Amino acid sequence: MIDLKGKIAVVTGGNSGIGYASAKKMKENGANVVIVGRSTERVNEAASELGVKGIVADVSSLVDIDNLVKQVKDIYGKIDILFVNAGVFIPAPIGQNSQEMFDNQMGINFKGAVFTIEKFSPIMNEGASIINLSSINAYTGMANTAIYAASKAALNSYTRTASTEFASRKIRVNSINPGPIETPIFNKTGMEEDQLKGFAEAMINKIPLKRFGKPEEVASLVVFLASDESSFITGSEYNIDGGLNINSVLN
Ligand SMILES: NC(=O)c1ccc[n+]([C@@H]2O[C@H](COP(=O)([O-])OP(=O)(O)OC[C@H]3O[C@@H](n4cnc5c(N)ncnc54)[C@H](OP(=O)(O)O)[C@@H]3O)[C@@H](O)[C@H]2O)c1
Repeated sequence: MIDLKGKIAVVTGGNSGIGYASAKKMKENGANVVIVGRSTERVNEAASELGVKGIVADVSSLVDIDNLVKQVKDIYGKIDILFVNAGVFIPAPIGQNSQEMFDNQMGINFKGAVFTIEKFSPIMNEGASIINLSSINAYTGMANTAIYAASKAALNSYTRTASTEFASRKIRVNSINPGPIETPIFNKTGMEEDQLKGFAEAMINKIPLKRFGKPEEVASLVVFLASDESSFITGSEYNIDGGLNINSVLN
């Protein structure tokens, strides 16, 4: 088992999906975990199920992030693990992307991620680990994902620069690029049931391992990157996608 004993971890978007599974696994491995989400009800429910601390903050608001950092600092002092995971997926074809759709995805997936890191930076311990949850969409031209993909590509670029700048403090920064993972994110897109089914079938057809991933499988990678087992890894990206990135063309 990976040892996270004594480490303080903050997981944004920790009330659902990959964040929830990662918070659970971090706690099982000994970390003291804080989950962050934007809904008081959902955060409180998840925090009580997991037996961890829950703090409500909308990461698209710098005021909220300031309050979050202050609360974490007052309770824990400094942190060792920052899992920057909160994100939204709002698919639309080019020509139908509204300003609101742009601002939401960029404001949460990129600006929210950047300012979570910027503002937690002063209270990160030497040797800490930052893990950014990106997507394989950062490298694909998948239809209907132009803004989402750009938000994740921007995040991966930030990861590289951040890993250089944080190295002097022995803080590591890495990105995870999942393929399709079974989480509630798809039900939040407003797509109809039959559209979602068609999307899933088409996707599974293209994935060499012929299935969606599970949040727990991503959580295992998160916990590894959060731990001292990955102490020489920084500025890297990990695909976790059942082989989708192979792009085998024929199989
Ligand atoms: N599932 C996939 O196939 C997949 C693939 C590649 C990348 N990802 C990325 O993985 C990350 C986690 O997504 P998921 O699949 O686990 O989806 P999810 O179950 O919908 O979880 C997303 C989490 O982020 C939270 N969140 C969204 N906007 C927020 C905001 N402004 N402030 C604070 N929290 C916010 C959500 O809160 P609410 O409960 O309030 O919505 C939820 O807790 C995202 O960054 C997503 O882009 C997912």
